[in-house]
Amino acid sequence: MKQIKMGTNTTGIATSPIDSKELIEFAQVIPPSSPGSEAEAAAVRSEYARESGTVGSVPPPASVKGIIKAAGELIHGRPPALLIDKLGERLQFERSGTRLYEAMIAKHDAEGSFEGGPTRADLEAIRDDELRHFALLKRAIERLGADPTAMTPGADVVGLASSGVLAVAVEPRINLGQSLQALLVAELTDNDSWRMLIDLAIAYGQDEMAAEFRVAEQHEAIHLERVRAWLSSKLALDARGEPTSTTPQQAA
Ligand SMILES: [Fe+2]
Ligand SMILES: [Fe+2]
Repeated sequence: MKQIKMGTNTTGIATSPIDSKELIEFAQVIPPSSPGSEAEAAAVRSEYARESGTVGSVPPPASVKGIIKAAGELIHGRPPALLIDKLGERLQFERSGTRLYEAMIAKHDAEGSFEGGPTRADLEAIRDDELRHFALLKRAIERLGADPTAMTPGADVVGLASSGVLAVAVEPRINLGQSLQALLVAELTDNDSWRMLIDLAIAYGQDEMAAEFRVAEQHEAIHLERVRAWLSSKLALDARGEPTSTTPQQAA
């Protein structure tokens, strides 16, 4: 495990009191080179928000076999687009989740784990859960007669939101312990999002779907519990200043 240590970090102004004094004086005398203010920047953003279109759309049903027989037909008195959008959103997140754990496994192989940290098998088990959730959502979307490969608006939004999480996991200079922070972000979202999706499925009268999703929600509760425990162990080890390295395990 790569250790966090004191190094030649020069990002803070305390590194050079003379230069920082000059820099502050300069900033006070010379106005910013770009004109405008926070209020003007906010006004431009508002203007863009008003003038821009939406992020994608939900395509009409691709098949005539599903629950939605025709475009515009309601499910349990509700428009199908919302349910399809949210299913697509969850599918996107579970796909990213699978890749997130794949990246963690690669880090584990490179640097090993730490006392109280995840084993390769632990990471593989969660990776497999996320992949099963992805497949579960794919089937649920297909049963409705919709296309699981379509990028829905919600899928776009969570794809963008989770891009930072994935970036942390694949960044080679960020160690396994630090990467757990990204897993925490993902698993907290996983837990809340499944709960909301279950409520939505029930509102749409999809009781069977809701029952399947409850099983996924139970897995997510375990994922979160495990990630929290690994993070706590790492923090406790770091606080004691103990070496945390274990021998890297090779991929089977
Ligand atoms: Fe998940
Ligand atoms: Fe998860």
